[in-house]
Amino acid sequence: MKKIIVAIDGFSSCGKSTMAKELARESGYVYVDTGAMYRAVSLYCLRNGWMDNEHMDIHTIESNIENIELSFKNNTEGKAEIYLHGENVEKQIRTLEVANGASRVSTIGAVRRELVRQQQNMGKNKGIVMDGRDIGTVVFPDAELKIFLTASAEIRAQRRMDELKAKGDSVSFEEVLANVKERDERDQNRAESPLRCADDAVVIDNTTLTPAQQQEMLRTLFKQKTLE
Ligand code: DC
Repeated sequence: MKKIIVAIDGFSSCGKSTMAKELARESGYVYVDTGAMYRAVSLYCLRNGWMDNEHMDIHTIESNIENIELSFKNNTEGKAEIYLHGENVEKQIRTLEVANGASRVSTIGAVRRELVRQQQNMGKNKGIVMDGRDIGTVVFPDAELKIFLTASAEIRAQRRMDELKAKGDSVSFEEVLANVKERDERDQNRAESPLRCADDAVVIDNTTLTPAQQQEMLRTLFKQKTLE
């Protein structure tokens, strides 16, 4: 069986990472959550005061992006977690504030170029499942398997709200839905690598699919591509 690159793109809160992690586990591939990289950059900028809810010091972020150290390490359960300058920030990056910041820093060309460079480096030996917004279009335009995942904004907001509630964050459905829509808008309309479906991607709308049905579709596509 040949080793391939699997690129999974799509809107926020579509379940890309659940799908990607499960495939990586089954196939023994490396999983890379590129959203976590943008989130860690966002956290760093927020902590340093280079960004707040209203302003973003683009110049400072551009001139420091190459010095922000990101890495992934497996935890004791074998799950990859993100580190920022050696600190495990997997939990700290999962807040609405950091997500909003990630959506904003990801509009900066210099940030995208640096993170794309690091992502391409991670995939140079193939055997990788990477999820994000520009994986099939920019990071790995030659990926053997490209998936574009989508679902209605309402169902995505509901799923995200359930996740936040499970962690003890109290947020209203309206707040989460507005956040989902705002990020969709920014992800699709930014000048630098906007979210779009690659011409050769397989589109999966999981609004009415169970996780098991979705995984089976992915498994079948993966098998086809590794045997080709
Ligand atoms: O997938 P996520 O919600 O963790 O991503 C956080 C933000 O990062 C999202 O608003 C879009 C951005 N992002 C991106 O621009 N490119 C990627 N490859 C991954 C994420």
